Amino acid sequence: MGLQFAPRAEAAIIGRMPKIQSPPGMRDFYPDDMRQQNWLFDAWRDVSRSFGFVEYEGPIFEYLDLYKLKSGDGIVSELFHFQDRGEREFAIRPEMTPTLARMIAARANALPRPIKWFSIPRMCRAEKPQKGRLREFFQWNADILGLDEMIADAEVIAVVVAFLRRIGLSPSEAVVKVSSRPLAARLLESIGIAPERQGGAFDLIDRMTKTPAAEFDKKWNDEFGGSAPAARLRSVFRQSSLADAEAALGGIDGPAREAFADLWNFLKAFDVADFCRFDPGVVRGIAYYTGTVFEVHAADRSHRALAGGGRYDNLTGLLDGPNVPGVGFGMGDAPIQSLLADLGRTPKLDEALDAFLIDADARFFPQLMAVANRLRANGLRADFSYKRQALGKQFKQASSRAARVAVIIGEEFEQRGELIVKNLATGQQQAVAIEELATELSRL
Ligand code: HAM
Repeated sequence: MGLQFAPRAEAAIIGRMPKIQSPPGMRDFYPDDMRQQNWLFDAWRDVSRSFGFVEYEGPIFEYLDLYKLKSGDGIVSELFHFQDRGEREFAIRPEMTPTLARMIAARANALPRPIKWFSIPRMCRAEKPQKGRLREFFQWNADILGLDEMIADAEVIAVVVAFLRRIGLSPSEAVVKVSSRPLAARLLESIGIAPERQGGAFDLIDRMTKTPAAEFDKKWNDEFGGSAPAARLRSVFRQSSLADAEAALGGIDGPAREAFADLWNFLKAFDVADFCRFDPGVVRGIAYYTGTVFEVHAADRSHRALAGGGRYDNLTGLLDGPNVPGVGFGMGDAPIQSLLADLGRTPKLDEALDAFLIDADARFFPQLMAVANRLRANGLRADFSYKRQALGKQFKQASSRAARVAVIIGEEFEQRGELIVKNLATGQQQAVAIEELATELSRL
């Protein structure tokens, strides 16, 4: 049988390949973008380590069942999933927490507590791409496991705030909205929503700020209006301090209230309370949260959530492991980059060469290579032209590569072992002995 070409393959062979772009919601990282990305990753890593977290990683895809376990079949439409040749169902990870829980459950008894781990996984969600929401993104995760005390909840929030401060954001630009599922359940109970109906109520509340008010009120009143009309819900759930929410209810008490007061005291002790605000409207859509919940938002609400997290105390138990309590958060790269760009705070970064080496004559090229080897071995960024050409052309390349200095290898080198170091910003030049060169360049 003869070979047959599909139209596209045929077009490729005769040189008419249709232009292929990157898929929607996915990004190319050109070197300028990669520099910004690495800057962000460095900040995430430094902040994590300053709080004693250590880094881990997991696989890019998992068994689909891992995600269905807690979230049900509904999650499948939000995932990129596929079958392998053995007809096993996998999904590209849409988040890290199930992987983390699986890894912890597998070694629950061997890991010293508390477990403080962070990661910067690449992940995919089958989203409709929009500003700050992509199909492929990176997400910083930091989680504390093996400790069910409020100090851990407060510490993961402190990690988030340390990062916000580190990138120069103030409480007037970014806020951490904090609540707790048990406390919100208590508030719902106070307005007459019984525990067995609260799951549905939380789902709706999670969408409260993202849905137009009239539409939300209609949905709410249709389902829950009999117990509490939307206006009553708002009077409690749109308050920005616990005292105001309590005043609207005539006070609440009980363990959920006490635990939340504990959290607030720890937030003050970690010196991060200025970034935090109580917001009972934050209930988090993800099914596994059992305690504290929080989200980071741009203060002017110009972006979707910058980060989200909370306490999940039953997740490892679902994976046939012993129950290991956990608390943590995820923060996307895209929303942060987009906020910084809108604020005009994208850092100015360069990757200038430390030195561009120039030979005054082609016969000095072997010495030039020896100098390049020596500088590179000393950790300096050094480069040179592949072509032997006139001095002027080599200087031009030095400037186009944004080198800090040009190092000229010529007769002085032959006679006295000296090189001419020219500062390309000021034009000043000086003779430097070969033995001194690396130290001199590092000093410059
Ligand atoms: P999440 O709320 O689904 O939580 O995502 C957390 C953050 O990831 C969001 O606030 C946002 O910054 C970023 N993010 C989510 N989807 C996208 C997207 N399509 N494009 C860009 N960024 C996005 C979780 O994933 C939990 N597993 C977090 C967690 C860790 N909870 C406890 N530990």
